[in-house]
Amino acid sequence: MVDDEDGYFGEPVAATYDQSSAEMFAPGAVDPAVGLLAELAEDGRALELGIGTGRIALPLSRRGVAVHGIDMSRAMVARLRAKPGGDAVGVSIGDFATTKVDGAFSVAYLVFNTINNLTTQDAQVACFRNAAEHLEPGGTFVVEVGVPELRRLPHGQTVVPFHRSPTRWSFDVYDVVTQAMSSNYVEVVDGRGSYRSIPFRYVWPAELDLMARLAGLRLRDRWDNWTREPFTSESGQHVSVWEKPAG
Ligand SMILES: C[S@@+](CC[C@H](N)C(=O)[O-])C[C@H]1O[C@@H](n2cnc3c(N)ncnc32)[C@H](O)[C@@H]1O
Repeated sequence: MVDDEDGYFGEPVAATYDQSSAEMFAPGAVDPAVGLLAELAEDGRALELGIGTGRIALPLSRRGVAVHGIDMSRAMVARLRAKPGGDAVGVSIGDFATTKVDGAFSVAYLVFNTINNLTTQDAQVACFRNAAEHLEPGGTFVVEVGVPELRRLPHGQTVVPFHRSPTRWSFDVYDVVTQAMSSNYVEVVDGRGSYRSIPFRYVWPAELDLMARLAGLRLRDRWDNWTREPFTSESGQHVSVWEKPAG
């Protein structure tokens, strides 16, 4: 359910976020991301767009990097604040496509498919501009996001199921005209059904490169994952790094 202030990450989602995304909090998922971001930050500051409950920001801060975050969900940020080291991370509440933060950063990053939470191309373009404006010359913007799964969509079909059990069905719905998609969750608990739908906009790697160019950035690296394996035609996701030219 969407909350006016916290978007799709209101109190009920925030309360269970770490648990329901447990595999993304495992060291195998977090450590390579933190390692790469710490390397890119060098001696500078890091800006996380959509900082959430601090999955990446807190371990990055523990590595000695000064981290600031932007997030629209007070409920998610309250979870971050309650964790050890949560007071060492600055957070601005607002939309990461437009919210400004004081000072310059050597790396900005947007992980875990969160660019897709911006549901229009205009908002995604604005997000790249905003990230670029926060970077010092030579700084980088890093995005981790899935490759749209349209090869799973036969001609004429709009729905791709991704979970099915006796009491839970999950499926994505695609509109290939607008690149709108939604993830939909139907669950039956104690005989009562519930339905939740979250809107996204899927976006292609090449389209992201154009957004980066519009923002004055250029592609430096694209990998399949945080351990820097090559991005190939079989990659289901990518970690891309765009650079703000120095000088
Ligand atoms: C999938 S969570 C990711 C959180 C964290 N980056 C992580 O990797 O665990 C997405 C986060 O982005 C925030 N978010 C989504 N759209 C946003 C927007 N337009 N402006 C600010 N925050 C947004 C949500 O509130 C949520 O905390």
